[in-house]
Amino acid sequence: MKIRVMPLGAEVEAAPGQALQDVLFSLGVEFPCGGRGRCKGCRIQVLEGSLSPRPADYEAFTPEELRDGWRLSCRARVEGDLVIQVRQWDTLVLYDNTPVEFEPQEGLGIAIDIGTTTVVAQLLDLATGQVRAVRAGLNPQARWGADVISRMEHAMAGEAAALSDAINQGLSAMVLALFESTRLPWTELRKIAVVGNTVMQHLMLGFPLEQLAMAPHVPYTMEEQTRSTAELGWHLPVDVPLRFLPNLGGFVGSDILGVILATRILESDVLVAAADLGTNGEIVAGSREGVLVSSTAAGPAFEGGRIEMGMRAGKGAISRVSVVDGRMEVQVIGGGAPRGICGSGLVDAVAAGLELGLIQPTGRITEGDRVVIQEPVAITQRDVRELQLAKAAIAAGLRMLLEELGKTEEDVQKFYLAGAFGNTLGVTSAEQIGLFRFGSERTIPVGNAALRGAKIALLSREGGVPAGIQERIRFLNLSARPRFQELFAEKMLLDPEPM
Ligand code: FES
Repeated sequence: MKIRVMPLGAEVEAAPGQALQDVLFSLGVEFPCGGRGRCKGCRIQVLEGSLSPRPADYEAFTPEELRDGWRLSCRARVEGDLVIQVRQWDTLVLYDNTPVEFEPQEGLGIAIDIGTTTVVAQLLDLATGQVRAVRAGLNPQARWGADVISRMEHAMAGEAAALSDAINQGLSAMVLALFESTRLPWTELRKIAVVGNTVMQHLMLGFPLEQLAMAPHVPYTMEEQTRSTAELGWHLPVDVPLRFLPNLGGFVGSDILGVILATRILESDVLVAAADLGTNGEIVAGSREGVLVSSTAAGPAFEGGRIEMGMRAGKGAISRVSVVDGRMEVQVIGGGAPRGICGSGLVDAVAAGLELGLIQPTGRITEGDRVVIQEPVAITQRDVRELQLAKAAIAAGLRMLLEELGKTEEDVQKFYLAGAFGNTLGVTSAEQIGLFRFGSERTIPVGNAALRGAKIALLSREGGVPAGIQERIRFLNLSARPRFQELFAEKMLLDPEPM
């Protein structure tokens, strides 16, 4: 049997009677409650073919939803050929179909977000704004290291051309796959818009890195860049212009410009803030009066890095921890026994440790030097310190931007959390450890807002950043400010009262 999985456009084979969970798991779909039919996190919609509802489906969905094809994929067994839409990708990395205002044009375009870890490309109809296909994959530069620092080091040690070639060939293959899956005519392809962090931009376009690598980390250029795909060595049947949106400052790239465009901060009458939490935490605050951006080195803790049993959010990772009847209860991605803990699990675990008195607000583990979350997974004293560093960097950065604007956290009306981590992070836990405190009403996960920003730029008539936008965004270099160091030290406390 053939299963076509949207919006990825992937086609996989399955045997009759096979658990759909196995098939989807291999594509990276998560099963938050371990496939017990409790969380609905694995829900899918059957677009073509049929999938008989199971008892858990009758509990999870209304009769109308069942009629519309909604099912829990963790309960389903393959009966025939299927086309399904995976719901969790609506808000996670891959898919973004939020309508944007634009002037219809002819032809097709491609919006791309180059992340340090993953790359996502969407093929769009420029007349309707409709997403025709999506492709996502790992950044092929991963073999030169998981983080931007090691990639920069390799590039500066004489491998720049190889790193540039890896991403350009990877993107070229993705674009070929987009057209292969849709069979749309190549002649319709008009333009491509790309966003990515400053290092991804330098590496792809082959800019010298020395200036960016050394304090005060100034990008080689702040201008939007236009190239042709042929010039970049892409092997496509057509040659089209590609625009790489401009950087905003040292380590604040066009991905954050994408977040600003997508969340319409520059059109807001009230003060809003946004953050993309990763190894490099980017933070934004402002309104139509103007926007401040900055970046702060959070370290890899939010991605499960440098944590003794840390891992990425994949199978076997503890992704959520809660306190039930005075004990920790965990959710493991994909179900089964835990193998490690990912960033969202770590934030939850430390919050739970605080609640249970196992961890002090200073970060000290009350007894011994580890807290068992669920055997065999534990967090150590060093792990808590790593998380404190990450948390302090973000909380101090946010405070600095607000102070610069003469405002406080109370004045912020909306706080957008961009990126995959922002979607999985437990807002209550984040508040308990003092990462931010805007309340769940003001905190809005926005998924891959960077990609949405690329799409907005693509759909604009110019195909790039709307005129006048860059002048209204100011970059603040935090590391140059003594006040930042002072705030950073204060914010090391795991204190739920960060204001
Ligand atoms: S309901 Fe299917 S994984 Fe939770």
